[in-house]
Amino acid sequence: MRIDVLTLFPEFVDSIKEYSIIKRAIDEEKFTLNTINIRDFSKNKHKKVDDYSYGGGPGMVMTPQPLADCIESVKTENSFLVYLSPRGKKLTAKTSKSLASYEHLILLCGHYEGIDQRIIDLYVDQEISIGDYVLTGGELAAMVLIDSVSRMIPGVLGNKESADIESFEDNLLEYDQYTRPEDFRGMKVPSVLLSGNHKKIEEYRKESSFQRTLENRPDLLKNKK
Ligand code: ADE
Repeated sequence: MRIDVLTLFPEFVDSIKEYSIIKRAIDEEKFTLNTINIRDFSKNKHKKVDDYSYGGGPGMVMTPQPLADCIESVKTENSFLVYLSPRGKKLTAKTSKSLASYEHLILLCGHYEGIDQRIIDLYVDQEISIGDYVLTGGELAAMVLIDSVSRMIPGVLGNKESADIESFEDNLLEYDQYTRPEDFRGMKVPSVLLSGNHKKIEEYRKESSFQRTLENRPDLLKNKK
């Protein structure tokens, strides 16, 4: 898979290539990640990429010319173009999984108050939001999307790491986990986890998952199969 990110801040997005599982996946050629600066495509003599909103109102809107030329420089018939925006459908594990199956993903990051609607009408396959809050731009949202999509690409996670991929698919949150020492400042690891009784351990973890979900995300239990 190839991911192209169209942004006004390429260095910001490039930073995720340097860390942890994403770095390893890129080094192992599980996917490639390129950033493209939208400003480089501006035909304005001052490289301007925004203008006032027709109809008035605060904030600037990204103009269509640099966006169209930037998109056309990377788009092919195999591309799927996602525009990150608070107006989009909310990102879920299911969306990430389906995005991971594309050969070429283009992620468009907006700034200012948004982008000219004609760019959305012409090129955007899916508008995605990462949550009900407004960020200063789409870059952090694109990075969140890349992280969650990359984990779904076959071979990116090792066997041990991939176990938790199913977690949201079950509509349950992760169970509580412990590592050494057995006693930390007088707080003991639950004895069942030291018992070696796998059936009991599984029961404990199921109950722990259920309790965390009930406490933090009761909405997930309504959707549970
Ligand atoms: N751009 C600004 N806010 C956003 C959000 N919540 N999700 C995706 N893109 C955004």
